[in-house]
Amino acid sequence: MSNATANDLYTHAQSAASYIRSKTALQPKLAIILGSGLGNFASQVNDATVIPYADIPNFPQSTVQGHTGKLVLGTIGSPNGSVPVAVMQGRVHAYEGYTMAQVTFPMRVLGLLGVEKLIVTNAAGGIDVRYGQGAIVAISDHINLTGTNAALGPNEPRFGQRFFDMSSAYSPAFRKLAVAEAAKQGWTLNEGVYLAVLGPSYETPAEIRAFRALGADLVGMSTVHEVIVARHMGIQVLGLSVVTNMAAGVLDQPINHEEVMEIGQRIEGQFTGLLTALIPQLATHAG
Ligand code: HPA
Repeated sequence: MSNATANDLYTHAQSAASYIRSKTALQPKLAIILGSGLGNFASQVNDATVIPYADIPNFPQSTVQGHTGKLVLGTIGSPNGSVPVAVMQGRVHAYEGYTMAQVTFPMRVLGLLGVEKLIVTNAAGGIDVRYGQGAIVAISDHINLTGTNAALGPNEPRFGQRFFDMSSAYSPAFRKLAVAEAAKQGWTLNEGVYLAVLGPSYETPAEIRAFRALGADLVGMSTVHEVIVARHMGIQVLGLSVVTNMAAGVLDQPINHEEVMEIGQRIEGQFTGLLTALIPQLATHAG
């Protein structure tokens, strides 16, 4: 990758951001990335401007069932406490054949639009046997086992610094608010470490045993690169996983994508209840 490429990334992200600005005057402060089976949350957005990814210059297209591919801009919450948000209904993954620069391109664009806070969500396999299927878990930290890094290549200083801290990648303050809000709504939000693999194959039982020994509680195929890029830009992050299945070998049964989609629908009410209550709190929190 040459220096021209880092500059190109910035220019391409700027043109995508300009296109989005031409569609709405709304300036999102908080972004939400909706993972597999969780896309319906976008219907909570008021006064929505919906932009298909296909219309946005340079935006990658999702090829996976359950990832709609729309950017929804609008507000969440009551008029006096309403928060301007950008919701990504679907994302792309490296296993679809995209580079990490492409996978994280939307995150770069959101940063240029002025987003300061991110709620990133995903479907994950549960490695910690205490999580049941359908559990919502706050990500406390991650292990990147994808063998690559979205910030590889020449650094673009308009995005951030060459080397950047990841010691509080998932804001402890945001997690605390999320745990408290779940308790207020009558359920326990556990915290756990998310380990990322490339996929698309699900893991083998031996891999899951190895990941458990490494300290992982959850496994998935997304999120870590978006979070790396968000931290590069100084964006504060709350990560939420939905345990759609127990990881390979935990139960004596195969894993299938239909199950992943179905669980998203089953916990929709709980997930929506948590997010709609949390968004105004995160928006006003200094972090
Ligand atoms: N492994 C990896 N990614 C996943 C899983 C899993 O078991 N479930 C949902 N996404």
